[in-house]
Amino acid sequence: LRNSFAPRAEKRNQRFENRLQPQASSFKVAVLGAAGGIGQPLALLIKMSPLVSALHLYDIANVKGVAADLSHCNTPSQVLDFTGASELANSLKGVDAVVIPAGVPRKPGMTRDDLFNINASIVKNLIEAVADNCPDAFIHIISNPVNSTVPIAAEVLKQKGVYDPKKLFGVTTLDVVRANTFVAQKKNLKLIDVDVPVVGGHAGITILPLLSKTKPSVSFTDEEVEQLTVRIQNAGTEVVEAKAGAGSATLSMAYAAARFVESSLRALDGDADVYECSYVQSELTELPFFASRVKLGKNGVEAIISSDLQGLTEYETKALEALKPELKASIEKGIAFAHKQP
Ligand code: NAI
Repeated sequence: LRNSFAPRAEKRNQRFENRLQPQASSFKVAVLGAAGGIGQPLALLIKMSPLVSALHLYDIANVKGVAADLSHCNTPSQVLDFTGASELANSLKGVDAVVIPAGVPRKPGMTRDDLFNINASIVKNLIEAVADNCPDAFIHIISNPVNSTVPIAAEVLKQKGVYDPKKLFGVTTLDVVRANTFVAQKKNLKLIDVDVPVVGGHAGITILPLLSKTKPSVSFTDEEVEQLTVRIQNAGTEVVEAKAGAGSATLSMAYAAARFVESSLRALDGDADVYECSYVQSELTELPFFASRVKLGKNGVEAIISSDLQGLTEYETKALEALKPELKASIEKGIAFAHKQP
């Protein structure tokens, strides 16, 4: 099985409908925050996956209509809706993968860290339920600030005695999707061929696209590196400002998360060739969490790819050192939050 969301040259002519043919549709996926701006299109894209047998949609409100609507699509998965805290546990029972886009998005002038106070509590509560009901599931965290919400999730899972660092993922795929798009545009490359690893974290300067590791190999002037790096780091803000108070990226985010979830399901299905960038527990640097390319397998992270950090340019080396204090502070803030709560 190839990733439907990362098309390659040889499948360019594959018909859209081919993706909808029933295959081994055997995985159950829960989306928490499914009625939101990301949740709805993400649920639609997951509903299109031939690997999914059941799609559990959970939100605190408005999820019934979303589920009724989606359930009319003639793709294999069954759609079930769950509303409010009393139905949270049932939404999680037996699921193989959980995706969490619950929480508030940014408005103009806000940083991702400004969301901390609200989203930290939401993620903590949801992860407690995940720990109690599906401790073996792959957990994909979208809720910002990802740099802190992933460490919060790790601490909550530790407190519950079910933490498996190989199965906890911060979703940074949108940074890769953006980097691929902007580089292809800038260098006039075929979009489907371009792959740029993005490492570090998921906010401002902690987002570090490794342009020197772009595939296919391509050279950039110093000005191009500076311009592309800054654009990739600020791309979320570009969308926040364009939406002018109506939220942050939802459609491109749903696309990116669907790609990551599909990769996780392919890994669970036994595909031996699945790689994604993700913010995970890591020993690649001195920081306990770090985004990099990882190899996914049936048990989650099978390997963290260290080669991308070797042979960096001077620009990348400096940017890597510069992001560490901010990322470290965000990690520590998340851990402290998880410990101070009752
Ligand atoms: P939204 O406000 O449109 O939707 C959020 C949904 O979460 C709503 O339906 C709301 O009812 C639900 N929700 C709130 N509290 C909940 C709870 N306790 N349990 C379950 N659901 C709950 O926001 P949007 O645009 O969908 O963004 C969601 C999150 O994703 C934000 O934190 C945003 O910053 C983040 N995000 C992350 C990105 C990434 O690259 N990782 C990119 C873009 C956004």
